[in-house]
Amino acid sequence: MRIDIITCLPRLLDSPFSDSILKRAQQKGLVTVVIHDLREYAQNKHRTTDDYAYGGGAGMVMMIEPIDLCISKLKNERDYDEVIYMSPDGELFTQSLANQFSLYKNLIVLCGHYKGVDERVREHLITKEISIGNYVLSGGELAAAVIADAIIRLIPGVLSDETSALTDSFQDGLIAPPVYTRPVEYKGWKVPEVLISGHEAKIEQWRLEKAMERTKERRPDLPG
Ligand code: ADE
Repeated sequence: MRIDIITCLPRLLDSPFSDSILKRAQQKGLVTVVIHDLREYAQNKHRTTDDYAYGGGAGMVMMIEPIDLCISKLKNERDYDEVIYMSPDGELFTQSLANQFSLYKNLIVLCGHYKGVDERVREHLITKEISIGNYVLSGGELAAAVIADAIIRLIPGVLSDETSALTDSFQDGLIAPPVYTRPVEYKGWKVPEVLISGHEAKIEQWRLEKAMERTKERRPDLPG
């Protein structure tokens, strides 16, 4: 899979992809993440990618031309499954969208900024708008890193234990059951007996019950 992220603040995306699972996924050749600096596509001498809004009002608007040049260049090189725009008024990102996107071959993700992008970008160049939650970030970069992380970890071979993504919270409409590790007792706080019983069927049953209990208590909105 290849993910092209277009941003006017490329440095914001340096660290999420240069550590741990996302770094290893790239080293193993399972995913290629390419960050594109929008300023390189700016057509004026100050290399600006935003301008005042027609009709007035506070806040700058991202211009269509650099975005179009960048997206067109990428589209000339390969076919893309979606061109995503990160925006607080997009479709709410869920595990089910992460699953769907993880099957794609090539994705473009455009990070929004300022007061937004020229509407013609959304009308003509974007195929999907995604929000990571009902709050406003200062830009789409962190949101792009969030969706890229959720997608990449689902690609087969990225996680060392292949089954672990399948037992994640939300994957089956349930949130994950509690987990424990050594010591078996700390300050008098004990690990549940069943987990050290060695009885696999009982452990599975306990985990399912806890997951259902937790989902009902904490996330009654989930289909579970
Ligand atoms: N850009 C600003 N806020 C955002 C959000 N909540 N989701 C996606 N992109 C954003």
